[in-house]
Amino acid sequence: MIDIHSHILPGVDDGAKTEEDSLAMAKEAVSQGITTIIATPHNKNGKYDNERASIKNNVQILSELLVKEDIPLTVISGQETRINGEMIEDINNGKLLPLNDTKYLFVEFPSANVPRYSSQMLFDIQVAGYTPIIVHPERNQELIEHPSRLYEFVKKGALTQVTAASIVGKFGKNIQKFSHQLVEANLTHFIASDAHNTTTRGFCMDEAFHELKNEYGSDYFYMFLENSQLLLDNMNVNRMEPSQVKKKKFLGLF
Ligand SMILES: [Fe+2]
Repeated sequence: MIDIHSHILPGVDDGAKTEEDSLAMAKEAVSQGITTIIATPHNKNGKYDNERASIKNNVQILSELLVKEDIPLTVISGQETRINGEMIEDINNGKLLPLNDTKYLFVEFPSANVPRYSSQMLFDIQVAGYTPIIVHPERNQELIEHPSRLYEFVKKGALTQVTAASIVGKFGKNIQKFSHQLVEANLTHFIASDAHNTTTRGFCMDEAFHELKNEYGSDYFYMFLENSQLLLDNMNVNRMEPSQVKKKKFLGLF
């Protein structure tokens, strides 16, 4: 299994603090069946800045440590950038780092709202040749209240990633319900851990995939598994057309 979102690099953000923490997370990932993990440290979120060059360097160091410790986990470089007005400039000047140097770029919204310029920025990112992936939309207050906004972003080419812990209810009932609605309405394309540690913000990947298979059957299960691989290979991912019936029920506006 591939996990496309994690804070496993030590000492760079609010994820792993030490190399020991990173190793504990790596062991936990392996125990859940994860073979490849993308390290996606926070960038420009007001607290942490992690630019391309330093992430690549830190991934190299952690990879060597994992080999030394005989932990069978491949770490790949990525980045979780909070949406901001300089994203195109930062793509051009080499500060941003798409996942595995593919066309896929993580975009995080603040938790309370969606900035007014988001639609334009998501468009500009695509014009620059990249595919934005909106991370954990299920935890954004404005999108919870106005899911049609997310529908518009997806319709215009953005992808989304729902967090495994949200699927299994670790962020509460409301976020769990919204996460499942996003799956049912075909408004999400990836399930990933966004793991920060092994305790309060763990992986939950095996549990979430088990729940997805039980509730929605093998098609969704394999689609999510396959999409993470397609992303890694810089191929186009499966995008299921939002179901008309479910969309009506969900958005209540069409
Ligand atoms: Fe994250």
